[in-house]
Amino acid sequence: MKPIQVGLLGFGTVGSGVAKVLARNAEEIGRRAGRAIEVKRVAVRNIVKARAVAPAAVVEGLAFGNDFHAVVDDPEISIICELIGGTTLAKELVLRAIANGKHVVTANKALLALHGNEIFAAAQARGVTVAFEAAVAGGIPIIKALREGLTANRIEWIAGIINGTSNFILTEMRDKGAAFADVLAEAQQLGYAEADPTFDIEGHDAAHKLTILSALAFGIPMQFDKAYLEGISRLTQEDIAYAEQLGYRIKLLGITRRKANGVELRVHPTLIPAKRIIANVDGVMNAVVVQGDAVGQTLYCGRGAGSEPTASAVVADLVDVTRLLTADPEHRVPHLAFQPDRLVDLPILPI
Ligand code: NDP
Ligand code: HSE
Repeated sequence: MKPIQVGLLGFGTVGSGVAKVLARNAEEIGRRAGRAIEVKRVAVRNIVKARAVAPAAVVEGLAFGNDFHAVVDDPEISIICELIGGTTLAKELVLRAIANGKHVVTANKALLALHGNEIFAAAQARGVTVAFEAAVAGGIPIIKALREGLTANRIEWIAGIINGTSNFILTEMRDKGAAFADVLAEAQQLGYAEADPTFDIEGHDAAHKLTILSALAFGIPMQFDKAYLEGISRLTQEDIAYAEQLGYRIKLLGITRRKANGVELRVHPTLIPAKRIIANVDGVMNAVVVQGDAVGQTLYCGRGAGSEPTASAVVADLVDVTRLLTADPEHRVPHLAFQPDRLVDLPILPI
């Protein structure tokens, strides 16, 4: 069977990780997907920039350039992988890919939290998939858990550490007495932080992810603008030390909860008793606890940011979409985790 051709938009921390994982594990991935997955074209902003990983060194024979539209319009490409970030160019390209009948895989939580309602409606109308496992909690398969493993449950609440950069900063401040600004610079250097790191430290990134989780869990529209958010930028060494003395840890939590009259959607630093598992999830690790009415509590933990942990989730989506494309065309049902035509009317409650 002919390989599935993928177009990569962006070749930074995540894009280069995706190319590396696809190349290194090509045999297993091809076997699991039912056919080979090949990156045909890569587009970046600056083609002369020095790169730790050169696209041609990872994928032999691919076309590398800065013409994003040429990738999205290439008739041989079946899946567009959007790994640019931001909400302007990324939105335009994703909608154009959908209009061209291509399936989309994205790690862009800001894009989905702000424009997901429009994007998923366009995908549904065109009969294509938009997959986004990497958009929430990096390498943790939390979207798959909500969509598949927990689908029998009425979800009551979700709470989690869903920003790796903030958790890394809080951990280094507590364990090493490191200065906030130094650890943030290290997180940027390690590829954990957003292009604009205020998104990490002021709670926006966690709120983007929480918006997506609440939409999946409760069947409500994406409503980022109604989330309460407060980040970690005003926390000091003293706050962290006092919390320790009192037997607590401070974690930036995203919490969404179904109540009788609506849904809570909030991100803020939280005191957690030090003996709780989630209080001991440190560094770039993320952890998400889901309370379902049938299963009770389940906990998902793993690396929440970084090149290959995130690539692991992106490639899982590529495999899923490839399986769909490999199925008999008459039995193909594009699966949208978020279904804009089946939404529930529950307001977001003021905090
Ligand atoms: P990087 O900044 O490392 O890479 C972004 C890529 O997109 C680069 O190749 C860059 O080109 C290109 N690009 C960025 N902005 C533009 C623009 N305005 N116009 C054209 N090209 C542009 O980002 P990441 O790989 O870290 O993140 C990509 C996406 O994945 C984001 O949505 C992010 O939120 C998400 N994500 C990131 C995680 C992480 O751990 N880093 C984890 C989970 C999700 P050039 O290389 O030429 O600069
Ligand atoms: N900047 C994000 C974080 C990347 O630190 O969690 C993963 O979404």
